[in-house]
Amino acid sequence: MSPPLASRVRDLRPTAVNRVLAEVRAAQARGVRTVSLMRGEPDLPTPAHIVEAAARSLRDGRTGYPDNRGELAYREAVALKLERDNRLRYDPATEILATSGATFGIYAALMAVLDPGGEVLLPDPIYDAYASPIRLAGGVPVRVPCPLRGLRFELHAEAVAGQITARTRALLLNTPWNPTGTVFGEGELRAIARVVMERNLWLLSDEIYEAFTYGGARHLSPVAAAPELRPRTILINALSKAYSMTGWRVGYCAAPPEVASAMLLVLQQSSRGPATFVQDAATEALRGAQDAVEAMRRDYDARRALVLERLAGMSACHPLPPEGGFFVMASLAPSGCTSDEVRRRLLEEHGVVVIHGAAYGACGEGTLRVSFAAGGEALSEGLARLRAGLEAIAAE
Ligand SMILES: Cc1ncc(COP(=O)(O)O)c(C=O)c1O
Repeated sequence: MSPPLASRVRDLRPTAVNRVLAEVRAAQARGVRTVSLMRGEPDLPTPAHIVEAAARSLRDGRTGYPDNRGELAYREAVALKLERDNRLRYDPATEILATSGATFGIYAALMAVLDPGGEVLLPDPIYDAYASPIRLAGGVPVRVPCPLRGLRFELHAEAVAGQITARTRALLLNTPWNPTGTVFGEGELRAIARVVMERNLWLLSDEIYEAFTYGGARHLSPVAAAPELRPRTILINALSKAYSMTGWRVGYCAAPPEVASAMLLVLQQSSRGPATFVQDAATEALRGAQDAVEAMRRDYDARRALVLERLAGMSACHPLPPEGGFFVMASLAPSGCTSDEVRRRLLEEHGVVVIHGAAYGACGEGTLRVSFAAGGEALSEGLARLRAGLEAIAAE
């Protein structure tokens, strides 16, 4: 028998996508042919000029250790982007950190601000991969219920205030918000900011879907909406979604100097940052022409419209039009089945893969998350199966 594993590992959970993927593989092994509307992974290639920048960098021998804080040129590109797109000024010398995707930014931020037992407020429903890193940092995730109001999930300042205890240390916001598609407006952010200020909390702001907003919605960084938040905010972002660079593992954080330095210490004991040539490519992505991002946004906008159209007029569910991100939440008509049961039947009997809303928290129950990050034949075939499957389940 081997010696015991560390107790901290017991509190960690695989992500919802990985749990569902394991079921999908088992179904495929039994001969089920599947179409996936599951992942938040863009199917579009990384734009050619970014790939070329990486190749050039490799040819130039840029394969040594990177500056742990991030290559200076990359940090300068991040500062330029924050000013250009978000109206935020951060000093590349002291306030920006290069990270291996947003995932490492989230981890380093939590490690830098949490003591054991520190509570982190999470809107419910939300991206399921925040809870485990909170536990890994010794903290406790605390849910802020955000029931559906009409066609929109909303986070109300009073609901945030209602979950604060003497142990609360931080609020984690994600705008545009996965899985709900809500993009926070200025009034909402200012109301939330008041609570964060009054109760002396950290704000962790994950803005990874910022490039993809629809209709009249526009991304607004919480610090731009409420500048008084700046000394207590860690902005987390990555190039994964905006530039179709999920596999490159490159992102960044912006935070006041002492916070960035604390996160740098965490980073030095673990990832030591993205590869040097990847940072060079990311520099080109942020500084170069942004037409490819706008072209991708238009593409996702058309896919979003397709999902809304194909799921319209059903009695089994109604789709909630997202203001941003890659997902449409489908609100299920009451049927006596949980969202997980509906998801499983859709997989087993109709070969279409979605994620049950309950995977994102109790307030996600009664919904399914439908991704339009992949388009083309997969999207139209998946939507046909989803519609037929939901109608068949409802007819029973
Ligand atoms: C809200 C949110 N944050 C972070 C991530 C992970 O980002 P990255 O791939 O850059 O680590 C995802 C990926 O799906 C996400 O949806």
